[in-house]
Formats: sequence, C-alpha cells, structure tokens
Amino acid sequence: MRDNLEIMLQSACSALTSAETEAQLREVRVQFLGKKGELTAIMKGMRDLSAEERPLVGDLANRVKDTVESLFEERLALLVQADIARRLELERIDVTLPGRATNSGSFHPISIVTDEIVKIFSGMGFGVAEGPEVEKDFYNFEALNVGKDHPARDMQDTFYISDDVVLRTHTSPVQIRTMMEQPPPVRVLAPGTVYRRDSDLTHSPMFHQIEGFLVDERVTFGDLKGVLTRFLREFFGDDLGVRFRPSFFPFTEPSAEVDIQCVICSGQGCRVCKQTGWLEILGCGMIDPEVFKAVNYDSEKYSGFAFGMGLERMAMLKYGVNDLRLFFESDLRFLRQF
Ligand code: FA5
Ligand code: MG
Repeated sequence: MRDNLEIMLQSACSALTSAETEAQLREVRVQFLGKKGELTAIMKGMRDLSAEERPLVGDLANRVKDTVESLFEERLALLVQADIARRLELERIDVTLPGRATNSGSFHPISIVTDEIVKIFSGMGFGVAEGPEVEKDFYNFEALNVGKDHPARDMQDTFYISDDVVLRTHTSPVQIRTMMEQPPPVRVLAPGTVYRRDSDLTHSPMFHQIEGFLVDERVTFGDLKGVLTRFLREFFGDDLGVRFRPSFFPFTEPSAEVDIQCVICSGQGCRVCKQTGWLEILGCGMIDPEVFKAVNYDSEKYSGFAFGMGLERMAMLKYGVNDLRLFFESDLRFLRQF
C-alpha cells in the first residue's frame, strides 16, 4: 500500500504540474482525491492491514492527500494569475497612439457666399423668400412682361418641360409670387437654383442667383444704386472697381447691368473676362409698371427696384476661381480649400 501511495503521489504531482487550464486542474484533483478517486480506491486496502501498520499507513495517506491538495492550490493560483496577465496583455490599450482622423464636412463655397449675401441684406431689412425650380411660364415670363412672342425670350435659352412649364431661367418669378401674396411695402431676397442651355468658362446649365427687390412709395434709381453699391463694398471690400452699365430687361425700366473689375487679371484682360477686364455679376432696374399691373400693385403710388445676381460669378470673384464649372464637379481637392 505504501508503494501504491508513493506511485499515486508521483503521478498526481506530474498531472497537476502539466494541467494547463483551471478546468483540467480540477479534473486531476477529482481523479485522485474525489470520492471515487484513486486515493479512495487505495484506502480500501486498509482493512487488510495489521493494527500496528494501520495508523502508519493512515498517516502516510493523509500526508499524500495534503501534498496533493496544497500542490493543487499552488498550481491554481498560478494558473489564475497567468490568465489575468494574459487578458491584460490581450486587452491592452495604448493611450499614446494618435487618434484616427475623421473627415469633417464643410460648406460649399456657393452656400458660404449665399449666407454672406443674405446676412448683408438682412442688415438692410430684407427678408428671404423662395419659389419652385419647375415653374409656370406665367411666373417665369408672362407676368414679367415677356409674352410668348416677345423677342426677349431668346435672351435666355430655356429648358421647356411642356408648353406652359419650364425650368426657371432666373429667380425673378419669385418677385411675382411674392407680390401677388403680399401688399407693398416689400423688401425681399430670393436665393435659388436656375437653369439655362448654356455652358462655358463663365456659364453653366445649372447655376444660382439671388433676386432682390424692394417696393415702397418714392423709391428711386438712386436708392437702387445706393443699396447695391453699399452691398458690393461690404462683400468685396472698398478697392474693387464697380460699374453700372445701361442695359435692357423687359421687366425693368430703366435697366442696368453691374460689372466688377476682373480679379483674375486685375482688369488687365484675360480669358475669364474675355479680355474686357470686367465681369458681369448682376442685372437690375426699376420695376416696370407692366409688372405692377400683373400683380395688382398701384404703379401711381408705388415704385421699386429689383436685381438678380449670379452667385457663381460672385464666388469666382471673391475667391479668385478661374473656371465656374469647378463649383459643380464636387472635387474634394477644390472644395477643401474653403
Ligand atoms: C437675369 O437673369 C435677370 N432676371 C436679372 C434681373 C433681375 C434684372 C431683376 C433686372 C431685375 P441675366 O440673364 O443677365 O439677368 O442673369 C443675371 C446674372 O446671372 C448674370 O449677371 C450672371 O452673373 C449670372 N448668369 C447668367 N447666366 C449664367 C450662367 N449660364 N452661368 C452662371 N451665371 C450666369
Ligand atoms: Mg446679363
């Protein structure tokens, strides 16, 4: 029996030492010390021993049991420790690593310019209105004194949806919609997208305009010049050349167009300004009595001015961009610069 106990102790020791997980370790313990384990099996031989031998063997059995037990505890502590260390290593976070950069969006230059223009005119008491991009011929042309056979229809190459429906060619129809809805005085700014069959360095088939109009008693061309000059100085700064040039629009009389000195060539002449040194940014004039008639305003009592400017042109001049089409290509290398 002594020999059996010694052999068991040795195999228990080596089994405990080679157990790699807590579960394996517990299995080994059951295998040797459990109720149906090897120690129990060996102890069954006790009854065949003599009275002198019995306590001695019993003593040895207890020591074997204690040794296995304490080796088990030792090994368990070691495995638990190793497990913690392994998990710490696995879940380690290096707080000194640089963070991952996220792409942050930014406003499109046309939005930036729109916001700035709206802000300047808000300071002069203008509110904001909007209208549909798919527009009735009536609002886009007819009420603006451009009849079906009017030669001015050729000034703007129009996308027709049907005989009576067009993609609006300018923001001027918002003048009509607003004035039909509210009586004078009005002071309104109308930004929006417009469409024409046009495409080159300074023309795009889809572009943006801001319409502005003011109607009240005793409004003069002097007010128009004053408001626009004040706005342009605030938007571009004081040193940029500005000129008013007589022009024609069916819905204003008299009419003018405003040119800004070309910032690309400082007025020397280049391909953007077609060698003229100037870029046209807006059309304007005193609202024609025919328009007032269409919206039921009393043209004896009221007068007003209106203007419509091209936002891409404004952005080109403000940021020195030499091709208007860049605004529509969604090239991030371009857009990130704003
Ligand atoms: C008009 O559209 C008139 N509705 C402006 C107006 C409003 C006059 C109120 C009087 C009273 P015009 O077609 O000139 O006018 O266009 C106005 C501005 O839009 C131009 O000065 C130019 O800056 C811009 N523009 C015109 N066509 C294009 C285009 N294809 N691409 C980019 N900008 C354009
Ligand atoms: Mg024009």
